[in-house]
Amino acid sequence: MDLPPNNNLDAYWMPFTANRQFKAHPRMFVSAEGMYFKTSDGRDVLDGIAGLWCCNAGHKRPRIIEAVKNQVEELDYSPAFQMGHHKAFDLADRLARLMPGDLNHVFFTNSGSESVETALKMAIAYHRARGEGHRTRLIGREKGYHGVNFGGMSVGGMPANRKMFGSLVSGVDHLRHTHGIAGNEYSRGEPEHGAELADDLERLCQLHDPSTIAAVIVEPVAGSAGVIMPPKGYLKRLREICTKHGILLIFDEVITGFGRLGTPFAVNYFGVQPDLVTTAKGLTNGVVPMGAVFASDTIHDAFMTGPENMIEFFHGYTYSANPMACATALAALDTYEEEGLFTRGADLGDYWADAMHGLRGAPYVKDIRTMGLIAAIELDPIEGAPTKRAFNAFLKAYDKGLLIRTTGDIIALSPPLIIEKSHIDMAVETVRRVLEEIE
Ligand SMILES: Cc1ncc(COP(=O)(O)O)c(C=O)c1O
Repeated sequence: MDLPPNNNLDAYWMPFTANRQFKAHPRMFVSAEGMYFKTSDGRDVLDGIAGLWCCNAGHKRPRIIEAVKNQVEELDYSPAFQMGHHKAFDLADRLARLMPGDLNHVFFTNSGSESVETALKMAIAYHRARGEGHRTRLIGREKGYHGVNFGGMSVGGMPANRKMFGSLVSGVDHLRHTHGIAGNEYSRGEPEHGAELADDLERLCQLHDPSTIAAVIVEPVAGSAGVIMPPKGYLKRLREICTKHGILLIFDEVITGFGRLGTPFAVNYFGVQPDLVTTAKGLTNGVVPMGAVFASDTIHDAFMTGPENMIEFFHGYTYSANPMACATALAALDTYEEEGLFTRGADLGDYWADAMHGLRGAPYVKDIRTMGLIAAIELDPIEGAPTKRAFNAFLKAYDKGLLIRTTGDIIALSPPLIIEKSHIDMAVETVRRVLEEIE
């Protein structure tokens, strides 16, 4: 058994983990470089999921290491409220320039979950600030994942993440999901069918009256519920309906932000302009926790009224724009830009898609979906034991030197954007062997 120096695995209650299974058979990483983790038993494991969809430039990147070292020597912490430091403003400015359209204002958080809470609060407060305090309702989508705090859980649509936690936030409803539409199997890029599912928002508008709805939040590409790509035209249609009814549209780009689709953001990829965008993960290459919410000029400016000595938005975190996080994010952006990683997903997209779709016909595979440097390999479940087949695949892949992620009976792959063709080949061959060996 692989134990840490104090010989005790008991105290650490692990997040989103089968704790008893893990502690009976621990899987420990001790270091990481480039595309690989090193395990405590000395094996290299190819990172097929960029850590948790966050290490977009891979591991142990020199610029980031240097930035962290320098920053801790220079300014380790600066109060987030009523004080500033240069890197916070530099970073916000740089991010605003990167984001298309008028999403010119950036509010810093520490995680995707906090970005979501921040955006939901901004949406409700924005309407109130402009005299529409009756707009308080929030609309999410079935199978959506927006983190684990109460707002995000409530607009989220993954039953297992909700069922243990009571009645959640009131005044929330959900659009139908877009998974499993006939004719969309084995899609590359946006699937053909299902744009009309966006009209479900009209149904909710009729049910609740649009004047009660503050915002709609969706992941442009849903990740955690199994990688669900938006049907062609779906997001555009959602935008149109939101605009028609004065409802804000929030894109949760926690996984799609920073190059995952072969563009800096999903906003670029789909050419649809939301009012708020939530990000985290790739913002710092996963190295220091940080999130950022992008708000349009209109939203920001609606708050900038009243006496100038008054706080305009009663919200923020002790670690908002933490100097260590800002320095790390600036170095991550440098790395992405210098190495062309914002568009590498587009350059490699065809190779990636061909390789992944090559798994069609492998045991248990019932669908494969690809977009940018993302793939979902959906498996037939073991009868009576949903999720078990994919979990078996995860364990087997780890033994064979590949880190994958599974949700339900779906394998997700989302590697660092520095991936080379040889790594893609290795990942596909490993998944194939895994599927041939598991039950
Ligand atoms: C779309 C989306 N939103 C929010 C989150 C929550 O982010 P965090 O785990 O940093 O709180 C995630 C995490 O995977 C996510 O995929």
